[in-house]
Amino acid sequence: MNHDPNSRTLSGMRPTGPLHIGHYFGALKNWIPMQHTTASFFFVADWHALTSDYADTSHIREYVNGLVIDWLAAGLDPEKSVIFRQSKILEHAELNLLLGMLTPVSWLERNPTYKEQQQEITTKDLSNFGFLGYPVLMASDILMYRPKWVPVGQDQLPHLELTREIARRFNSFYGNVFPEPEARLTPAAKCPGLDGRKMSKSYGNGIFLKDTPKEIEPKIRGMFTDPARLRRSDPGNPDVCNLYPYHKLLTDEATQKEICEGCRNATLGCVDCKKIFMKSLEAFLEPLHERRAYYEAHPEIVSDILESGNKAARAEAAATMAIVRDAMHL
Ligand code: TRP
Repeated sequence: MNHDPNSRTLSGMRPTGPLHIGHYFGALKNWIPMQHTTASFFFVADWHALTSDYADTSHIREYVNGLVIDWLAAGLDPEKSVIFRQSKILEHAELNLLLGMLTPVSWLERNPTYKEQQQEITTKDLSNFGFLGYPVLMASDILMYRPKWVPVGQDQLPHLELTREIARRFNSFYGNVFPEPEARLTPAAKCPGLDGRKMSKSYGNGIFLKDTPKEIEPKIRGMFTDPARLRRSDPGNPDVCNLYPYHKLLTDEATQKEICEGCRNATLGCVDCKKIFMKSLEAFLEPLHERRAYYEAHPEIVSDILESGNKAARAEAAATMAIVRDAMHL
């Protein structure tokens, strides 16, 4: 690859079901341009999915393929990026084991994401070793490819900070092996769910990248707007509307201004505002759906992409592990 080796990019997602537009604007949107300017690695974190969903793994294959298709539809280019599956690169497990030796358990126990999920997720038993070790495995995924950039959503920042701390600790014992990676965030994208809560698969309040206009229309029709606008003649406030943040992401600026004014002086009703949004969304999704149709019709191409991505990733991982074993006198 003929990119600057000092500006590599790596990121991943867990295969837990179809991606919604919150995933797109929260992280994936950043991946697309980075593949053109840096040597890029994107992977399906299927082992990470097991840290919480170990009891039923029956959907994992389907989700892995679905995730890769979501990425390709969104514009990841297999000619530019290495796209691979974590569980096919066994070196991640080796590095996970070694990094586990030098990571204090207290660092893991005080991880805010760990504490939060332990408390909030009551439908699964998260007292397993693998869940506590989630950030160590993530550090292994990242450090293996020695990237400069890790484009992720805001929620991943505590994990990335731990990766940096683990890299520093490794380097302090065994010499300078791992550069410290940096996060790349999208401009603070607010993507509330249709009902105003966080957009999440488990709340059933999301717009998915694969949704057809037919599936989207009733979702948008039911979306909450400014609760003070009971009648069309009541003036509204875009700042408290659930729909308006989406216009900010998807509608051109001139139209946004018109919407704002029309809402505040009650010349534009919520129904018409939603129609404008439907158009913006369709324009955004159309090229994604075209690419999706192509890959869904050619599953063998998707397997080939993963296969050759796995091979390229494995070569990188082997090179890093040779350095690591040497540094640790193994
Ligand atoms: N924790 C990430 C998520 O929940 C997935 C992930 C695993 C990841 N390993 C990673 C992301 C390494 C970036 C880099 O989406």
